[in-house]
Amino acid sequence: MRLDKYLATHSDATRTLAKMAIKTGRVEVNGEVVKDQGRKLKSGDVVEVNGRELVESGEVYLVMHKQAGVICATQDEEQDTVLDFLDGYTHKELHIAGRLDKDTTGLVLITSDGKWSHRVTSPNYSCEKVYYVETVLPMLASYVDDFAAGVQLRDEEKLTKPAGLEILSEHAGMLTLTEGKYHQVKRMFGAMGNRVTKLKRESVGRVSLGDLKEGEFRELTKEEVGGF
Ligand code: URA
Repeated sequence: MRLDKYLATHSDATRTLAKMAIKTGRVEVNGEVVKDQGRKLKSGDVVEVNGRELVESGEVYLVMHKQAGVICATQDEEQDTVLDFLDGYTHKELHIAGRLDKDTTGLVLITSDGKWSHRVTSPNYSCEKVYYVETVLPMLASYVDDFAAGVQLRDEEKLTKPAGLEILSEHAGMLTLTEGKYHQVKRMFGAMGNRVTKLKRESVGRVSLGDLKEGEFRELTKEEVGGF
């Protein structure tokens, strides 16, 4: 995010006032005066106006379209994390509400609100998650009933909760889950003797990817936040 936009978003200043503050040398980024209004901020940058740090006001709720190869962690020394892509969002409590594997693409929710992320991820709230899945072997029609009845995964005490499978073509389908066990989609197809070759999360609850391209993110609307 640009510095002038950041100031206008995170303080009471209008964009014009923000520009003025930058021009007159009253804004510092990481302890250095910055007079470039278009300076791009990175996650973790500390912005001060008149010597006082601008702290993100209120909670943050974001949806990102994760690319393959990016990990769902808040920090990593070697690998790119989802948070590395959130230019301008510096809230210290930002975390991921429901992780995806490194090779999975699609919808990731990111927030500073711990109670909200608990509602999104808790099995008690049965929030629906829809995945586009491709497999190496054909998807058999029998999977539909097997997934609806629940699947016994290795090292799990209980069957998976009823899941909806819509077969789209020989090797592709849409799977709807209401829980999020570790590697659940891959393990469910594995239990059928099949293997997932492509996995993309399309939606969580009422939040969908829409037009977001890989690597892009946006703020959730109030309705989307309230939907969990
Ligand atoms: N299920 C998986 O196996 N992987 C994911 O990333 C998400 C759900």
